[in-house]
Amino acid sequence: MGIVVIDFGGQYAHLIANRIRRLNVYAEIRSPLVEVEDLENVDGIIFSGGPSSVYDEKAPLFNDKLLYVDVPLLGLCYGHQLICKKFGGCVEPGDNSEFGAAYLNVQIQKDVFVGMKKRELVWMSHRDSVSSLPAGFDVYGSTDDCPIAAMGNSERNIYGFQFHPEVTHSEHGIEMLDNFISICGVNRNWTMERYVEETSKKINSQVGDRNVFLLVSGGVDSSVAFMLLNQILGEDRVLGLHIDNGFMRKDETSIVESFMKESGFHNLHVVDASSKFLRVTEGVVDPEEKRRIIGEEFIRVRDRALDDLKLNPDEWLLGQGTLYTDTIESGGTDNAALIKTHHNRVGVIEDLIRQGKVVEPLDQLYKDEARRLGETLGLSKQLVWRHPFPGPGLGVRVLCSNGSKSDFDSEGVEEKAREIASQSGYRLDILPLKSVGVQGDSRTYAHPALLTGDLDWDKLEALSTSLTNSFNEINRVIYSMRSSKKLNLKLREAYLTKDRLDLLREADDLVMRALRKHELMRDVTQMPTVLVPLSSDNSSETIVLRPISTDDFMTARFSRLPSKFLDEVCDGLMELDGIEAVLYDVTHKPPGTVEWE
Ligand code: XMP
Repeated sequence: MGIVVIDFGGQYAHLIANRIRRLNVYAEIRSPLVEVEDLENVDGIIFSGGPSSVYDEKAPLFNDKLLYVDVPLLGLCYGHQLICKKFGGCVEPGDNSEFGAAYLNVQIQKDVFVGMKKRELVWMSHRDSVSSLPAGFDVYGSTDDCPIAAMGNSERNIYGFQFHPEVTHSEHGIEMLDNFISICGVNRNWTMERYVEETSKKINSQVGDRNVFLLVSGGVDSSVAFMLLNQILGEDRVLGLHIDNGFMRKDETSIVESFMKESGFHNLHVVDASSKFLRVTEGVVDPEEKRRIIGEEFIRVRDRALDDLKLNPDEWLLGQGTLYTDTIESGGTDNAALIKTHHNRVGVIEDLIRQGKVVEPLDQLYKDEARRLGETLGLSKQLVWRHPFPGPGLGVRVLCSNGSKSDFDSEGVEEKAREIASQSGYRLDILPLKSVGVQGDSRTYAHPALLTGDLDWDKLEALSTSLTNSFNEINRVIYSMRSSKKLNLKLREAYLTKDRLDLLREADDLVMRALRKHELMRDVTQMPTVLVPLSSDNSSETIVLRPISTDDFMTARFSRLPSKFLDEVCDGLMELDGIEAVLYDVTHKPPGTVEWE
């Protein structure tokens, strides 16, 4: 049958199944309460991570019998801790949490660690740790902050990793999963073509003789979904709707229109709703509220478009290019925490989903798979390899404030953090605003620490990791690239206005043009430019650059961009009217999400 992944609500639970499928092995996700009788012919079981602690009263309910199914078992993060506890070991809150990169000292180079080096780069996201082993288990690996980062009982084929082999930033994680699959002795006969076949069947049966009205932003996901639906249902049963929401990049709508024409799509309807979106978001400061309002406005605009085009809403289902990432980060599975509400997962859409009225042909895929699928379907390379852009667009990149400071009131933390930074030669300031992060599978909303000093990427990366691991109050670290005066950044009142959006549009355009000119589009997977209402004189603004590299967006590394590029970009940005400083985000994901809101 294949591998069953038991989902404890971890951000990467689905990614585990996805990685296993990439190894050509069928994998499916099941609840922790699944009955063993329902897992007929299973070849191996993997327990995912999750946002709970194994001691939480609200930890997910769990069928203990899953521990005794006579197949190999692998626990990851929370799953590792659960196996430890259930077999008689101990789990405790660690002295130090670990988020992002860590080095695993491999102590047993066999079983799940066949072919591993003595020191392996792995990706962590945890607060609790295993502190003592259950009987019959050995330590397979440790990190500086986590003495039992991998354990195993080779006689019973039960293993546990504190880190996440399923994320691509764990350098040989996929090989570790491959080793586990070999231990399971499972058939390797699953392919992407089979995914497309299954999806076609699913969509045909869901849509029946109805049609699909698909939201097409022009990004990778919606374009691939558009192409796939056109192929499955035929052009006359699919209509694309491109909405200019006013939060688009410079000239985006006209670029999308011509791209679509060049790609041979004739069934795209374009609506300019920019003034409507600006009106409904007027005065809104809270990021989640902003996301909800923007997501809901999309549906209102779609409803009006149906009306204008005289299409019967009962005959036209809503189509979206939702990826699995959007669902999981929106808290869309049983035990998963909400990190941020993606625009395609707001309340009205959830209602439509419950009524079976939403068609999402990519909902099991990650970005890199959506791209592969796009290429397989023959979509132009230009479209497939566009940098992703979030549905709420610049709306979530223009940070807003009603002027009341978000005080940093954790006593002593700033002094301690300052001391750590000064040991590496940096000045540290905690900024008086917050941004979203993802730590230990949960959402965080905390302050960024700003570092000022020489540009030394190694030092900045090490400091970034150590500051966010040591202080819960800090979830992001940024570096001061350029400023027009001595920085004394204070929060000022500022909202989502056309002027601020236009300013960011110019800044974003300048950054994207420079990326193209320096041929960095492929090195950087995405590079949000963020406008934050921080200023020394209560009138100007600050820009944050957030270049990252990733395959699937569940984890990401901040990019180290060449100084020639950065000098040019900073020069250009500082010339824009009203920009006082340019900052550079040096936070991996976790602990920081890609977008700030
Ligand atoms: P985060 O900020 O969650 O971003 O690390 C991961 C990826 O998702 C994009 N993103 C969105 N995409 N609707 C989208 O279609 C949304 O509401 C949304 N929010 C974030 C983000 O740009 C990045 O590529």
